[in-house]
Amino acid sequence: MKPSQLRFVLLLTLTFAACKSQASRTEPESPALQPSAYERLTEYHLPPGLLPDNVLNYTLKADGEFTLTLKSKCSIVYSIPDDEVLVHYDKHITGTLKNLAISDLTGVSTKEFFWLAVTLIHKDKIDDDVVYFNAGYLYRSFPESVFASPRSCSANLSPEV
Ligand SMILES: *[C@@H]1O[C@H](CO)[C@@H](O)[C@H](O)[C@H]1NC(C)=O
Repeated sequence: MKPSQLRFVLLLTLTFAACKSQASRTEPESPALQPSAYERLTEYHLPPGLLPDNVLNYTLKADGEFTLTLKSKCSIVYSIPDDEVLVHYDKHITGTLKNLAISDLTGVSTKEFFWLAVTLIHKDKIDDDVVYFNAGYLYRSFPESVFASPRSCSANLSPEV
């Protein structure tokens, strides 16, 4: 083999090896091409910390309908001015994500005098820093900063369900 031929073969081999290793690097990661559930919330101008940090996976349809699975059901205590609010997240959460709101929500509840299902989470305007949790006719307002980043969630504070 002439030296120029050898170089050509070597180059081909190297190119092939590079392509192969790139393919094996990207292949198992294709589900990760989906934006995270937290990125989805910010796309709709909602703070990422509305969800705990243990999201396992989710599906989101074009009309905004979503299903979301947590690693386990759990609760978070949010400190708001002059008060604390206990919020429980079921393992499976569903709802409809739209601009500034999550409606038809299931799987999230808040403890007031007793546990109430939160059916709507919303903001009035992009620039508002207040987030509302509606449970039927009742609502709670939170400073948006409370949900600035996803918090870890405790299994020990959950209602007996
Ligand atoms: C999410 O993960 C759970 C547990 O691995 C699995 O049963 C479920 O099918 C997954 N859902 C989606 C939408 O990928």
